[in-house]
Amino acid sequence: MQVSSHSRVSGPSLGAASAAPHKLTALSRHGALPMPILAWTPEVARETAHLYEKVKATIPPIEWPFHAPYIKAINDLKKQRNAVILAHNYQTPEIYHCVADVVGDSLQLARIAGQSDAEIIVQGGVHFMAETSKLMSPEKTVLIPDSRAGCSLAASITGADVRALRRKYPGVPVVAYVNTSAQVKAEVDICCTSSNAVKVVESLGADTVIMVPDRFLAANVARQTAVKIIAWHGACEVHERFTAEELLRYRAEDPSIQLLAHPECPPEVVDVCDFSGSTAAMIDYVKTRQPQRVLLVTECSMADNVAAENPGVDFVRPCNLCPHMKRITLPKILDSLVYLREEVTIDEALAQRARRSVERMIDLN
Ligand code: 13P
Ligand code: SF4
Repeated sequence: MQVSSHSRVSGPSLGAASAAPHKLTALSRHGALPMPILAWTPEVARETAHLYEKVKATIPPIEWPFHAPYIKAINDLKKQRNAVILAHNYQTPEIYHCVADVVGDSLQLARIAGQSDAEIIVQGGVHFMAETSKLMSPEKTVLIPDSRAGCSLAASITGADVRALRRKYPGVPVVAYVNTSAQVKAEVDICCTSSNAVKVVESLGADTVIMVPDRFLAANVARQTAVKIIAWHGACEVHERFTAEELLRYRAEDPSIQLLAHPECPPEVVDVCDFSGSTAAMIDYVKTRQPQRVLLVTECSMADNVAAENPGVDFVRPCNLCPHMKRITLPKILDSLVYLREEVTIDEALAQRARRSVERMIDLN
């Protein structure tokens, strides 16, 4: 993960050097709480039984006694702390279905972060998502349970890279995928997500637009618009690994299978699929169309989460795992709520510029 000099994560695990002595930390603002006792008791079994019903298709009964004490402790602590958990669709089912208050794609989470009236946001997702929440809710305490939860796209570009692009292509507007650091967002004209990229590009009224950092998203957008796209060379380490050949093999085995791809996949992968859209759009597709058999060409937890809500759909699962998303676990979320770590802070001058790019996008929708 890339942590810029302006945007940093501070918390007890980073040691004394990261916390300015005069600054109030999350812990000094909200106070300490004791770590709950974690045990599989009849009370825990009873209070979490309704949640197990939601995930029983993906979590075997033998594993539930390990998750349930954390789930109860986290749900109790959220109330005590006036905290909400915003979880991305790639979080594991025990997070997504059992402790998250809001789930969604990047756009939905960014919107909700600005609307929530909780005092504390715990981000179930990667670091750029937590930064976006902080941008949209500067007065709230935003915590990420593991600040090492990065993203290959966000790590592929810096603010200095954007400034160099602007020098190379003077006057050409720059769109940043939301999968970027606050430092990059501060340098661009507007942000986009996978669910609104074409609309954002066309909103600028320019004949040429620079899109950073995902070269595949840029290529997929370029095919849907007359605007000329200049792309950066970043890629998602999860979606770039899918190939058209592997998908065509599944189609050959079952011609009725529905293939749904995320637009971070290479265009030749999108070409052999029936649908391409954001994680939320894929969920919607499955919910409304109820295909007999589906393959979600994306991160592994998506199929688990969607399968739990669509028992009539058969999911074929050649997925790729996002190691960054998987850094967020129930024990780390619990630590986050007890010890209020790791707090996301962004220099206010930088945040103002970065926020403007996110708000311009949100105002378009
Ligand atoms: P969505 O906005 O479609 O949820 O995508 C975010 C992401 O990181 C996909 O890899
Ligand atoms: Fe980043 Fe790809 Fe992981 Fe999404 S799936 S967080 S784009 S590395």
